[in-house]
Formats: sequence, structure tokens, C-alpha cells
Amino acid sequence: MNLTAKPLTLALAVAGALTLALPVARAANPCKPLRAQDEKPLCGKNPCAASDRIDPKLVTRPKNYKPYAGNPAELKKEGERLWKDTKLSTNGMSCYACHQGNGAFQASFAKPYPHQVQMAKERAKMKTTHLDEMIQICMVAPMAAKPLAWDSKELAALTAYTADVQKSFKPAKGPVANPCAAKNPCAPKK
Ligand code: HEC
Repeated sequence: MNLTAKPLTLALAVAGALTLALPVARAANPCKPLRAQDEKPLCGKNPCAASDRIDPKLVTRPKNYKPYAGNPAELKKEGERLWKDTKLSTNGMSCYACHQGNGAFQASFAKPYPHQVQMAKERAKMKTTHLDEMIQICMVAPMAAKPLAWDSKELAALTAYTADVQKSFKPAKGPVANPCAAKNPCAPKK
């Protein structure tokens, strides 16, 4: 073996060892990145820390509000697709990540809109919310994105589909698991 080859061999050996160690380190991480099919919401920075205020102006229906009008069946179908679309958020979240199987919905979801929703009241000081306003709140807070344009097809589609989900919603008997609870399930154990 000549002299120049030695450091190279060493470097290769180190690189090899790292490659072997990496998958192990990844597998041990309970906070894997969120995909639509994952059951648990994204971990790491809590996307809905209760302390973060939501600007009510961003999520309140504008004056002379004219929602996008389209074919109801088509909107519902598009809304169902958007529910799983992580591109709507900036943090890998989708509506589905938290709300699949009616997850995170409190008993208030069974009432006709507008009604009071705890998160809207606490964080945006809104006494009551319409369904589309609530979707905007989830866009801004847990999804860490901008509100959708009020006259957009996206908002109309999400509203149509969520209204459909609401029809078959029955409030859970026990406490509802809140993915936005202050306790972050992925915080390092003390
Ligand atoms: C990180 C989790 C999370 C994500 C992602 C999320 N939400 Fe929510 N959402 C919540 C929580 C928690 C509540 C319950 C708020 C309460 O009752 O105080 C909620 C409440 C709601 C409500 C109101 C229910 C009621 O009681 O009237 C609607 C509607 C809703 N979400 C729709 C959506 C839509 C549509 C999306 C996607 C654009 C979405 N959410 C994304 C966590 C999330």
C-alpha cells in the first residue's frame, strides 16, 4: 500500500461506518416526518402551541363575502383530496393528519355553524365561528400557512367536504385526544 492511499482508506472506512449507523439513528426517532398515511401528527415544534395568538382579521369573513360557487359534488370531491394535501401547509401537516376518523374534533363540531369553538375563542378571541372561518384558523395555526383566498375554489372545496364530514359526526363520549395539547408527545423525556 502506498502512502497516499492510507488516508483515503481511512476516510472510506469512516464513511462506511457512518452510513451503517445512520439508519439506526433514524429508526430510533419517534418523530418521523409526517406523510398523509401517518397516524400521528408531525412532532418537533408544536404546530399549535396555545400561547400563539391568531390575528382575527386573517380569519374573519371579509365584508361583501362571496364564496366561490361551483358544482357541489365536484367541490366535495376536490375537498376530500385537499384534506390529505400536505402542500397546503408549510410544516408537513394536512387536515387529515389531525382530523382523520374525526380526530381532534370537540363536541362543538356537532352543532350547526356559526358556533363557539374553543381554539377560536382562546387564540383569536372570536365568540363564534363559521365553518369556513374555522378552516382558515386551522390553515393559519396548525397548518402554519397563509389563509386561503376567501373566493378561492380551495376554500369552497374544503368547506363543502368538511360540511359533509360534519353530517356523520358524533361527539366522542370521553375526552378527545387533542393533537395540539400543550404537551408535545415528542418532547425529549426528562
Ligand atoms: C395539527 C392538528 C390540526 C390540523 C393539521 C388541522 N386542524 Fe382543524 N382543528 C384542530 C384542533 C385541535 C381543533 C379543535 C379546536 C377546538 O375545539 O378547540 C380543530 C378544529 C377544527 C374545526 C372546528 C370544529 C368545531 O368544533 O366546529 C374545523 C372545521 C377544522 N378543524 C377543520 C380543519 C381543516 C379543514 C384543516 C385543514 C385545512 C384542519 N382543520 C387542520 C387541529 C388541527
